[in-house]
Amino acid sequence: MGSESETVCVTGAAGFIGSWLVMRLLERGYRVRATVRDPANMKKVKHLLELPKAQTHLTLWKADLAEEGSFDEAIKGCTGVFHVATPMDFESKDPENEVIKPTIAGLLSIMKACVDAKTVRRLVFTSSAGTIDVEEQTKPVYDETCWSDVEFCRNKKMTGWMYFVSKTLAEKAAWEFAKEHNLDFVSVIPPLVVGPFLMSSMPPSLITGLSPITGNKDHYGIIKQGQFVHLDDLCNAHIYVYENPKAEGRYLASQCDATIYEIAKLLREKYPEYNVPTKFEGIDENIEKVHFSSKKLTDLGFEFKYTLEDMFTGAVEACRAKGLLPVPGTDVKPNDSPKIEVKANDSAEKEVKANDSN
Ligand SMILES: NC(=O)c1ccc[n+]([C@@H]2O[C@H](COP(=O)([O-])OP(=O)(O)OC[C@H]3O[C@@H](n4cnc5c(N)ncnc54)[C@H](OP(=O)(O)O)[C@@H]3O)[C@@H](O)[C@H]2O)c1
Repeated sequence: MGSESETVCVTGAAGFIGSWLVMRLLERGYRVRATVRDPANMKKVKHLLELPKAQTHLTLWKADLAEEGSFDEAIKGCTGVFHVATPMDFESKDPENEVIKPTIAGLLSIMKACVDAKTVRRLVFTSSAGTIDVEEQTKPVYDETCWSDVEFCRNKKMTGWMYFVSKTLAEKAAWEFAKEHNLDFVSVIPPLVVGPFLMSSMPPSLITGLSPITGNKDHYGIIKQGQFVHLDDLCNAHIYVYENPKAEGRYLASQCDATIYEIAKLLREKYPEYNVPTKFEGIDENIEKVHFSSKKLTDLGFEFKYTLEDMFTGAVEACRAKGLLPVPGTDVKPNDSPKIEVKANDSAEKEVKANDSN
């Protein structure tokens, strides 16, 4: 349990996962140093400043993964670090310099800061399923021993390839560094994270997760044979492995597996107004599920609390409340990406049109 004397640093604190994690850490009594690239940008930090206990237990720190030593000050004196930040620009024109290099160099720079601080008990890294299962021949089951094939990603250049490469190379380099410098390093490996959220713009993972609603076909491949975890379960898993002295190594944190057809069925039944497709071109309707085993995490004692339905209804409701998805039959229109509009011809027939801007 966190105490008043425990100060932890969360990088990427304004983002989808970072902000929820900050909320849960504050609730548990931690003092939190939240790093963001632009603390003066109220649109990006307002949801952090409004959190319960923020006034007394939260401070904002400016730091950028692209700048060596940028996190040193924020980490100095902390007992724990949660490294959540990552560049996630799938459309980058210069993926090597904008995504891959800062992800690797940024993680190593943070590790160095942890070693130099001499106060950091454990560094928890938010890895990605993109480090696990991206390879030519899909296996039926994946666990923490699996690693994605970086050369395959570089050659195939599928959507998000630079992100998969960046996370895989960064985590591999981190394990080397941790061994060499005797740093207590634990990685949490989430699949697609879905659920309600705090930030005001559309989280990157929901651009993927809600693609059956928005019609963003580029993202169908990512959830074709998907695995999912609720945002709250994931953040609790981060805190669980931080606090548990027995935690070591990598931990897959996946609550369930589902194909795009199962996701689409769930969304169609819950939200018929969005006309979620029944067929996805090029994806076999009987496609097999691919299982991610979280046995290592549950054997450690962690319990997942949420269902697939909780994840998707939570996400859709949060998007609607923030004006990121239209609410058919009302005048609530989306004010941010994905830019979709609902055409209500009559009460029985409503059409969701994707502008395909993502
Ligand atoms: N969401 C998922 O489904 C999912 C699945 C697997 C793994 N993950 C991992 O979870 C972590 C968080 O992802 P997320 O979904 O919360 O995404 P997100 O909302 O985009 O958050 C990422 C954060 O990283 C920060 N960031 C980007 N480039 C940076 C840089 N050069 N220097 C410092 N900070 C930078 C951004 O900070 P600013 O606020 O300063 O712009 C942003 O808040 C990532 O490590 C990702 O690999 C996510």
